[in-house]
Amino acid sequence: MYRTHSCGELNITNVSQEVTLSGWIQKSRDLGGMTFIDLRDRYGITQLVFNMDTNADLCQKARKLGREFVLKISGIVTERESKNAKISTGDIEIIVSEIKILNASKTPPFTIENDTDGGEEIRMKYRYLDLRRNPLKENLMLRNKVGFEVRSYLHGIDFMEVETPYLIKSTPEGARDFVVPSRMNPGTFYALPQSPQTFKQLLMISGYDRYYQLVKCFRDEDLRADRQPEFTQIDCEMSFVEQDDILNTFEGMTKHLFKKIKNVEMSGFPRIKYDDAMRLYGSDKPDIRFGMQFVELNELAQNKGFNVFDSAELVIGICAPGLATYSRKQLDKLVKFVQKPQIGAKGLVYVKYNEDGSFKSSVDKFYSQEDLKAWADKMEAKPGDLMLVLSGDTAHTQNALNVLRLEMGDRLELRDKNTYAPLWVIDFPLLEWNEDSKRYHAMHHPFTAPKPEEMHLLESEPGKVHANAYDLVINGVEIGGGSIRIFDKDIQAQMFKHLGFTDEEAQEQFGFLMEAFEYGAPPHGGIALGFDRLVAMFGGSDSIRDYIAFPKNNSGQDIMISSPSAIADAQLEELFLEVKNIQ
Ligand code: AMO
Repeated sequence: MYRTHSCGELNITNVSQEVTLSGWIQKSRDLGGMTFIDLRDRYGITQLVFNMDTNADLCQKARKLGREFVLKISGIVTERESKNAKISTGDIEIIVSEIKILNASKTPPFTIENDTDGGEEIRMKYRYLDLRRNPLKENLMLRNKVGFEVRSYLHGIDFMEVETPYLIKSTPEGARDFVVPSRMNPGTFYALPQSPQTFKQLLMISGYDRYYQLVKCFRDEDLRADRQPEFTQIDCEMSFVEQDDILNTFEGMTKHLFKKIKNVEMSGFPRIKYDDAMRLYGSDKPDIRFGMQFVELNELAQNKGFNVFDSAELVIGICAPGLATYSRKQLDKLVKFVQKPQIGAKGLVYVKYNEDGSFKSSVDKFYSQEDLKAWADKMEAKPGDLMLVLSGDTAHTQNALNVLRLEMGDRLELRDKNTYAPLWVIDFPLLEWNEDSKRYHAMHHPFTAPKPEEMHLLESEPGKVHANAYDLVINGVEIGGGSIRIFDKDIQAQMFKHLGFTDEEAQEQFGFLMEAFEYGAPPHGGIALGFDRLVAMFGGSDSIRDYIAFPKNNSGQDIMISSPSAIADAQLEELFLEVKNIQ
């Protein structure tokens, strides 16, 4: 028998018991006649004691053991003289009578402690060692708990988990596909799913009216802190539902998770239309933990001789409370900040609303004190506040002011990690014009249904049509997205036409779905939540990597197993592939 208890289990009630434990050596200390070893497993740490006076041989043996050796020990549980209130086993220690070395260990390349000395690269290479550390272990335990709660909630309301295949045909979700060559069908490729979108819709046609799956999805796109090439979705679909049914169901699930995981009670999630989100926050994923909404100033700011504003499509501002004290130097820095290439504003106009009621602005030449007072009134600014105004074409200006708003929110400490502000962004446009390809792209995906009341515009003015499509946003992070689907063959065909597919292409790629629509497709809709993002949010982090056991680095590589890697010529031949020389 390797163990009678785990290393996190024993306490004062076990005193005098003979026990056997197995685990890894976290650290050891020699104090004159005594040696102490901390033995660790997944459940905790137990202190082992060896006494030179009572068992010199064993004590000598213990002193030779290195960090991360794997041991099996037996001994008697005793009460500690100096207790450690920080750990669950802190009241006791084991007086060891027997040690068995189950395996030796090389000295690990970094210390396996909460604060490690190992850099990112080395920890990724030895991920299995990094996973022994508490912070990562806790992250994976959190992930496990969230997954359990998701399953339990959905199971409780009749959702059924169905697995869908990983070797499929490309689904156009917007990113590039990862492809897998087929040996048995020379010259052809499977694609790994970007999501199980078409399969879950087929399951609705099969009658499984409440489907879910915790499922791996694969997207070959540029990586960021909240994006991995393979990630997990809580993928869901429902039949005989309208948008409200889906929003209510998944609002319920989200509330359940926040209650169970964070003990946070959430009230109803606000719903905000996409057009309003863009107008008020310049983002389809607004962080509404704080206000600082955009205020349009076109009417007040134009035709006063300031050419930059006069020639702009949009003049908008935000009011940063209490920041009129900013120095010239701080303001200059803020101007530089918005001029960074990734934000791309040409300049920034600032107006200080001084405590004495006067205004000092970077455009005093063009605007009188009365003019600036009118801005302040419209922006509901108070003495002591700082107004920040950008102008230009609508899309760029909204985008730049969004970045500035978030920056000011950070500076004013309005984005507290322990405050959660969820919302639904609804009524997304159905299509989005792409200047490069000179055609419409689906804003969500091609299976999203137009709003019935705007259906009549689909043929004549497709760009004006909105969709019953929605995103779940929490603290400025897109946690999930979904839509009510098209379930009619002709409307689906019309959508493909708008997306630039010829009839033949639509037939070739999605004939199976359109044919399925002819066999009694029910009205349906669904959503997918980013499981990694949700877990990272519960963990209080922006980065999903630390919540995935074996993630990829920013170049999409797993440096532990050296993947991706070249394959043998014989393998290539078998797959009828040829690799060109890559410099
Ligand atoms: P969508 O593409 O919006 O919708 O994806 C759903 C959610 O998945 C998460 N997500 C990611 N998480 C980590 N890394 C990535 N690379 C990544 N890409 C997306 C996000 C996102 O909100 N089939 C549709 C859903 C539907 O219509 O039902 C879909 O996949 O949190």
